[in-house]
Amino acid sequence: MNSIRKITEYIVYVGASDRRLALFENVYPIERGVSYNSYVVLDEQTVLLDTADHSVSREFLANVESALSGRPLDWLIVNHMEPDHCAVIAEIVLRYPGVRIVGNAKTMQMMKQFYTFDVDSHAHIVKDGDTLSTGRHAFAFVFAPMVHWPEVMVTFDTTEGVLFSADAFGTFGALSGNLWADELDFEGEWLDDARRYYINIVGKYGVQVMNTLSKAASLPIRMVLPLHGPLWRENIGWFISKYQTWASYVPEEKGLLIVYSSIYGNTADAMAVLAGACAEKGIRNIHMHDASKTDVSVLVSECFRYSTIVFASPTYNAEIFPKMEMLLLELKAHAFQNRDAAIVENGTWAISSGRKMSEMLGSMKDIRIIAPTLTIKSSLKEDQMPLVEEMAEALAKSVNG
Ligand SMILES: Cc1cc2nc3c(=O)[nH]c(=O)nc-3n(C[C@H](O)[C@H](O)[C@H](O)COP(=O)(O)O)c2cc1C
Ligand SMILES: [Fe+2]
Ligand SMILES: [Fe+2]
Repeated sequence: MNSIRKITEYIVYVGASDRRLALFENVYPIERGVSYNSYVVLDEQTVLLDTADHSVSREFLANVESALSGRPLDWLIVNHMEPDHCAVIAEIVLRYPGVRIVGNAKTMQMMKQFYTFDVDSHAHIVKDGDTLSTGRHAFAFVFAPMVHWPEVMVTFDTTEGVLFSADAFGTFGALSGNLWADELDFEGEWLDDARRYYINIVGKYGVQVMNTLSKAASLPIRMVLPLHGPLWRENIGWFISKYQTWASYVPEEKGLLIVYSSIYGNTADAMAVLAGACAEKGIRNIHMHDASKTDVSVLVSECFRYSTIVFASPTYNAEIFPKMEMLLLELKAHAFQNRDAAIVENGTWAISSGRKMSEMLGSMKDIRIIAPTLTIKSSLKEDQMPLVEEMAEALAKSVNG
């Protein structure tokens, strides 16, 4: 059996989804699963664009076999050498010994690191802008370094106007029959995972993503076929504009995010008071998370989403509470920048979490601290309400202008 699907007259979807994996890259929770997309082009010569993850290799290999229906595989284009897409290359070479593998010099170097088969005897090395004709189709290779790894390239099928975009425009979430974004409630059900995928996987490389977007802007793109998640043939401009927002580190929405850590609930209680004060000041888009409960990948994604963020943490063994410290480290690692922020600290004997949070935020670019740090000594007191009001006022100004 196979689960192949027709994309165009010549292009066949041969990818597969995994709903069993708990953590993508062994770190990002994927409750909705993930798909490993792969494509066969049936031209005068046959082409496979990327392979798949080990976990779906059986379905993937059956799909490739079925798509080729007895024909040999002439070309394997490797846009990305990360194992979630390259894991089945050696098996493909065993099954189709005549296959020529298209990649750049870095691709081949990585392939030799991951594999022991004779890469050189299969290698067809391309440079940025090179093209390959397979009969009716001409494929152009556009290098996209660091749009996730240094060897990444995207492949443009100039004949059909199809961009094989590698990890770019990918999304967490398994596919359930409907392959196209326009067949799904993408904005309602997928956008959060698309944002979380982008921010956590490539969020650090905004500059490189913008470079790739500007290279792609000159291409007459009809379809975008990424390596993960739904495929695009409608509203492509809308999704590209999301990428432009994320890659340029501008907030996607005016809104307030309150992220707190709390061991015994006092900091949490104080944040409920602050959130209420913010609502009284007219803020409508308020979101709260306990950093011990919400996964850090969601928190990082939400921080990229909103304009204004409150970070609140107790002092814990003279440090920031670990879950909050982890969030701040992750934000720094993802080049988080250009937001309004406020800090709330708590402690019972020697309070230092505020200063430490402020140092970490200060090491990021353009994080504007818009209110004095609110210091809670074990629990918030009535006489501190003016300070809470002052912070709420500053937050409302940031969100509502
Ligand atoms: C393991 C542990 C270590 C702590 N270390 C410090 C500390 O170094 N300095 C301090 O002022 N308070 C420290 N505290 C106290 C908490 O920061 C303080 O009780 C705070 O009010 C807790 O807020 P919460 O109710 O939101 O958890 C520590 C508490 C715990 C449980
Ligand atoms: Fe990747
Ligand atoms: Fe990937």
